[in-house]
Amino acid sequence: MADNVITIYFSMRGQTIGPGMRIVEQEKGNTQVAAEFVQAAVGGELFEIVPDKAYPTDHMKLIDVAKQEQQRGERVHAKAVPADFAAFDTVFLGFPNWWARLPMPVVTFLEDVDLGGKRVLCFATSEGSGIGRMAQEVADIAEGADVDVDGALSLTGSRVGRSKKQIQRWAMSKMAS
Ligand SMILES: Cc1cc2nc3c(=O)[nH]c(=O)nc-3n(C[C@H](O)[C@H](O)[C@H](O)COP(=O)(O)O)c2cc1C
Repeated sequence: MADNVITIYFSMRGQTIGPGMRIVEQEKGNTQVAAEFVQAAVGGELFEIVPDKAYPTDHMKLIDVAKQEQQRGERVHAKAVPADFAAFDTVFLGFPNWWARLPMPVVTFLEDVDLGGKRVLCFATSEGSGIGRMAQEVADIAEGADVDVDGALSLTGSRVGRSKKQIQRWAMSKMAS
């Protein structure tokens, strides 16, 4: 366990897409579940990126809003950033796939904090498309960070609850390397 590690995630509660593209309700987002597994394995802090904007809880409305944000390049700041962020040297960063891109709250967060010199280990949830270019997007935005693009973890959102071992094995292997 190390105390210079932080697991940061963005995740939506409420409606989401489940297996077979059905809409399901969930109390906790898929990426949050994955982030909690990571943090339980590696220790350190857990931090949620909470957008300073209310997103629709209705999935179909959310996907429209997200698309518009991306098309307009809208910035969505977080309500807060981690206290004493400079003290962390390893960042596990979790996010969902939104239209094959990083959600704008994640883009904006990466712009708003200084990741220079930090090691960044990405994990993403999606319902089929995988992580795509999202870890590369993180590397492109986070200037001076050491982003492990090839070692990023891609998870199927609806299977995250059953993927604890896989997620924790990945996280521990990154801590050891
Ligand atoms: C706005 C939006 C766009 C999405 N776009 C995709 C996509 O392009 N490909 C995909 O496989 N899943 C897509 N999904 C599904 C999510 O990536 C998936 O359900 C993820 O696990 C949600 O994470 P969360 O519960 O932590 O918010 C999208 C979901 C949302 C809300």
